[in-house]
Amino acid sequence: MSLHILYGAYFIAVFFIILGLKMMSVPRTARRGNYWAGVGMLMAILATLAWPGLQHIGLMIGIIAAGGAIGWVSARKVSMTDMPQMVALFNGMGGGAAAVIAFLHLLHGDMDAGLKALMALAGVIGSISFAGSVGAFLKLQRLINDRPITFPLQQAFNGLLLLASLGMAGYVMMHPSTESLAIFLALPLLLGFMMVLPIGGADMPVLISVFNALTGLAVAFDGFGLSNYTLIISGTIVGASGTLLTLMMAKAMNRSLANVLFGAVGTIVKGEGGDEEKVMKERSVEDAAVTMAYANRVIIIPGFGMAAAQAQHKVKELMDLLDSKGVDVVFAIHPVAGRMPGHMNVLLAEADIPYEKLKDIEEINEDFANTDVVLVIGANDVVNPAAEKDPNSPIYGMPILKAYNAKNVFVIKRGRGRGFAGIENELFFAPNTYMLFGDAKEVLAKLIQELKQT
Ligand code: TAP
Repeated sequence: MSLHILYGAYFIAVFFIILGLKMMSVPRTARRGNYWAGVGMLMAILATLAWPGLQHIGLMIGIIAAGGAIGWVSARKVSMTDMPQMVALFNGMGGGAAAVIAFLHLLHGDMDAGLKALMALAGVIGSISFAGSVGAFLKLQRLINDRPITFPLQQAFNGLLLLASLGMAGYVMMHPSTESLAIFLALPLLLGFMMVLPIGGADMPVLISVFNALTGLAVAFDGFGLSNYTLIISGTIVGASGTLLTLMMAKAMNRSLANVLFGAVGTIVKGEGGDEEKVMKERSVEDAAVTMAYANRVIIIPGFGMAAAQAQHKVKELMDLLDSKGVDVVFAIHPVAGRMPGHMNVLLAEADIPYEKLKDIEEINEDFANTDVVLVIGANDVVNPAAEKDPNSPIYGMPILKAYNAKNVFVIKRGRGRGFAGIENELFFAPNTYMLFGDAKEVLAKLIQELKQT
């Protein structure tokens, strides 16, 4: 096929990928965006397979079919709460593929020094991303200890590994052989895995986003080596969006990126709360149901506990019931509620809750003062007033949902367990706060039952 047609196909493929990404930024069009990005990807693959002089096409199609089938089945089977590790694994595959391309082209390719340097960097970065993403998967899946693992001079050791990886990259550019290239990939593979060790399970999404950006960069460098524009453009987009996402997550958690990557914090604290002197007031589900049924407006604040309990469908039932009683129900969404970006949006969309009902923090925060009832479902840190009042708090400065301003705050949680930051939450002891203890799904089921009779 003529090269002009194939370049044209690449151009259209990139257009669809960018269009898809744009549509994914709005929940209403996100599904279709995924579809169009997929169409773009398929076009890029077909154009590559039609490239003149390409060999082993049958083998490639077989491998693509096998990989595609595994990806399809696992994506359909994965539960929403396991999505971060799934993303980590898929991203790692991208980094690994970029590293393998670099390996083969450094061994067999005929390139000038500049392109060889880019390929060598693609090998280093892709390997770090592959091993790091697999490490993140193992931690999140609890196949290895998910607590931060530290040892003396850890960062210095990692720094040395990075220097050795770059040194080896320079060496293989001049003396490529299977042996030297194997060492060249082994060093950054070790580095990627070592980078994951000091990160606690709950900080892992930020690290995965860093690896995502690295995969994009490695793919773009490969694209230069292969003169493949689709790889250059899509790799650059992934690199840039991964970097932005990383910075936005760190900002929303009010942590510096260095603190997330090297701070060795962030293990989910599962222990019971500490200050036993203070009392959380428990209310019955009947009381909560009556208060809600007669409210003008209920703001629901979902958090990690809703995801853990998989309570989103019960939340939808509750919303429909309150709507039918003339109560205006909206959802206040904090950017880092849950454990991954957009976690709450995805779960609520899965339960068919209309996107218009979801309000961002800036949009809703002033409304709490005029609200009769706030229902907090498994959220903790994102409603903790310590972020505004206590300069010594680890979350000080993080914007929070100002639930404390509402007339009545009902909180569904199982007990005195703390949130991700591992700190006490004054909101739970406030005079206008009432606890509905129990698993979110079970409490919501009881609440729905009561409301039906109210
Ligand atoms: P958290 O502060 O983690 O609090 C979750 C609460 O849910 C806990 O206090 C827990 O209390 C309760 N819970 C757990 N399982 C439950 C269940 N089955 N039923 C009912 N309640 C349950 O959640 P959040 O407010 O969503 O805050 C998210 C935190 O994660 C923030 O600190 C954020 O910085 C961090 N983080 C977020 C992200 C992203 S991108 N979203 C990434 C990394 C870290 P009990 O044990 O008493 O039930």
